[in-house]
Amino acid sequence: MLPLEGKVAVITGGTSGIGACTAEVFVTNGAKVVIAGRRQDRGQELAGKLGDAASFIRTDVSVEADVNGMIDHAVGCFGRLDCLMNNAGMGSRYAAIADVDLEQFDAVIAVHLRAVLAGMKYAARVMAEQGTGSIINVASVNGFRAGLGGYYYSAAKAGSIHLTRCAAMELGEKGIRVNSLSPGMIATGGFAKNMGMQPDEADGHPEYAEAAISSVVARWQPLQYVGRTDDIAQAALFLASDASRFVTGQNLVVDGGISAGWPIAAVRPDRELFFRTIQASLSAHSA
Ligand SMILES: NC(=O)c1ccc[n+]([C@@H]2O[C@H](COP(=O)([O-])OP(=O)(O)OC[C@H]3O[C@@H](n4cnc5c(N)ncnc54)[C@H](OP(=O)(O)O)[C@@H]3O)[C@@H](O)[C@H]2O)c1
Repeated sequence: MLPLEGKVAVITGGTSGIGACTAEVFVTNGAKVVIAGRRQDRGQELAGKLGDAASFIRTDVSVEADVNGMIDHAVGCFGRLDCLMNNAGMGSRYAAIADVDLEQFDAVIAVHLRAVLAGMKYAARVMAEQGTGSIINVASVNGFRAGLGGYYYSAAKAGSIHLTRCAAMELGEKGIRVNSLSPGMIATGGFAKNMGMQPDEADGHPEYAEAAISSVVARWQPLQYVGRTDDIAQAALFLASDASRFVTGQNLVVDGGISAGWPIAAVRPDRELFFRTIQASLSAHSA
């Protein structure tokens, strides 16, 4: 039996990148999937490729009525709801504190945090009646490690990680597991979109992100290869399946080791400098 046999999942931001890859992996593993996003043509094309096991619904996750309609659509199409992956997102450019734009902050919070709460609100109703369900909130290493991401994005992702824990505390007694999944640097079109490229064009060129990630990977990440959408989809598969039946309230980090510490390539010169300096001091002392 496939790990997601008989299960129904909704994936927001399923029209590209991590969400689209996860939709494919879920279907391959036996699930029925609702793909949600704003780009109708792209969403329908992707759902069409996945066949009867998939359906697309146009959804802007920053609109509560759309989120409600998305959950109703899943139940209407496939009769139940076992997994909600709150994955929709956009990047945000770095701005210094003096230059922050509060309207942009609100827009980022609306998609990365408010929509996560809205998704859980409508999904939990259905899952509670079933007595089972798994909610996966896609966060980021920027949600718990400062310095790499911009203020709006990092704060929204931090909020999403803690919202996950809070919801897990309430929903556990109803049989619903809630976890966040925090990717590191993953080669998707998201980065080029954030730099102003048209979404469809950016999604066709993940290699731009791959080149940018490759340029810093040696100093930022202990594993010396670029993260792919499938790395996140496989972790989502684990969280959606019964293999993770005892896992809730956790933040599963899939980042090539970025958040674990300083890669040796980054600290080697400083480590050598440190030991040379202390050696010189000791030699001077004993002379
Ligand atoms: N790539 C990385 O390195 C990385 C790292 C950490 C975390 N993440 C997170 O992973 C998630 C997916 O990102 P990705 O890299 O796969 O980027 P992506 O390919 O640009 O995917 C983002 C998705 O979100 C959808 N979306 C954006 N705004 C939406 C809205 N208002 N309503 C509904 N859907 C919306 C987009 O679809 P439409 O345009 O069709 O609406 C798109 O399908 C995001 O939450 C991101 O923050 C990514």
